[in-house]
Amino acid sequence: MAKLCVSLTEKSAAETLSAMRGLPACVDMVEVRLDYFRQNTRTVRAGLEEVCRNKDRPIIVTNRPCREGGRYRGSERSRLDSLRRAAALGADYVDVELDSVSALGEISPGTGKIVSYHNFECTPADLEEIHRHAVAVGADVAKIAVRAQRVVDTLPVLELLERRAAAVPTIALAMGEEGMPSRVLAAKFGAFLSYASLAAGRGSADGQVPYREMEETYRFSRIGPNTTLYGVVANPVAHSMSPTIHNAAFAEVGLDAVYLPFKVSRPAAFLDGYQRHELKGLSVTIPHKEAMVPLMDEVDELTARMGALNTVAIRDGRRYGSNTDVGAALSALEEAARRAGLLPLQRRTVLLEGAGGAARAIAYGLAGRVGRLIIANRTVSRAEKLAEEVGAEACGLDEVSSLRPDLLVNTTSVGMYPRVDETPAPSSVLRPGMVVFDAVYNPMETRLLREAREAGCTTASGFEWFIGQAAAQFEAWTGLSAPRERMAEVVKKRLSSG
Ligand code: ATR
Repeated sequence: MAKLCVSLTEKSAAETLSAMRGLPACVDMVEVRLDYFRQNTRTVRAGLEEVCRNKDRPIIVTNRPCREGGRYRGSERSRLDSLRRAAALGADYVDVELDSVSALGEISPGTGKIVSYHNFECTPADLEEIHRHAVAVGADVAKIAVRAQRVVDTLPVLELLERRAAAVPTIALAMGEEGMPSRVLAAKFGAFLSYASLAAGRGSADGQVPYREMEETYRFSRIGPNTTLYGVVANPVAHSMSPTIHNAAFAEVGLDAVYLPFKVSRPAAFLDGYQRHELKGLSVTIPHKEAMVPLMDEVDELTARMGALNTVAIRDGRRYGSNTDVGAALSALEEAARRAGLLPLQRRTVLLEGAGGAARAIAYGLAGRVGRLIIANRTVSRAEKLAEEVGAEACGLDEVSSLRPDLLVNTTSVGMYPRVDETPAPSSVLRPGMVVFDAVYNPMETRLLREAREAGCTTASGFEWFIGQAAAQFEAWTGLSAPRERMAEVVKKRLSSG
């Protein structure tokens, strides 16, 4: 089982030991980055001794020079000396760079030698050769850390683990945001360990995930060779809420599955590559919803008509595309209309604000089901184009105040965090008995929804939509009923924590 190792970049022994003691038992090891210590030979020497004497779990001592991405600026001789001393003091492992192993020479026999290779530019083609070299020079653990330029660069790294880690303890990871999945999937492919940071922004390498997230979100310690893969394909992907919601859902129903953020630039190459590794399902978002459609073996009728999907399910090697945005938006709207006594919708007028991707999903869902659909947008030409596609009317946002819709749907970003004081609809439009649906879910109650509630309207929030589309994805992938309450709970928690 792959160990979880927190890389500590503290400035002193006291801070290192205090951080170490604060770590829970799921953190198996700690890497002590001596090169982050205040660089005074005497304090580093004394600090190393203090850490080795008082450690509460296995440690790796690393003293990385600048040329290999570290902070150590002193002489090579005293750097290697610090590693020999660490071994003599009982460090469990020392990390020595591939080009320094021979200069290091013998170390105390009780200490393992991690022989490391770094490439901060790219993922070179000869990973196998580098691994062989590390083993040949006496690595107890071979370590390869490269930079992923694209998400598919994680594949040769993981495949190296798959081939070699059973025979030689191996650490292989791809740095950078694109490389992040390799840090979690290290556990599936048999790595010796994966590094995590103490907290966001405190890592020793780009793309390191805080240990709490590794364990609480990704359930690192439970990932094994049979864990199936899911994820969100997006660009950017950093702030996606989807890993939080779907991993919580998998945990809740006890599925051996993990859901990852994939920062994808070329969806075709991504799909081909990851499909080799038990990829079972994807959420797809900006900017790939359209580009994914022709990559499917099959899509449902609505997806084919819209030309946009948000869900991919992979069964027996075949890719099925669907769009849960549409159904979930309709459900949220119909539920609110039912509460407001506005069903059936065929007799109602709907004012849809916005003409982007979200508006498009809702327009396709509503077209033909409502009495009158009016699409209002800041850029009127976009409203006109969408209206023509679905057979609706179009106008500018300035005309909204003269309309008397039964249902008002906002899909513009007006009112979204941080500009929470803005609203896309003048309060004169809000009449008692109306349904008001805001696709914005951060904040959960926007100014529009607050004013609508105060005006006696029935409201529905983007939060319900978000949970609904995710629950439908979960069901499309697993065939199980989605644990909606748990999904809602984790998203609420994340939204309230900022
Ligand atoms: P999404 O996929 O979430 O719908 P989008 O495609 O970027 O995102 O669409 C954003 C929508 O919000 C558009 O309708 C946009 O109007 P334009 O088409 O005129 O750009 C609308 N929008 C964004 N900022 C706005 C603002 N300050 N006032 C009014 N509408 C705004």
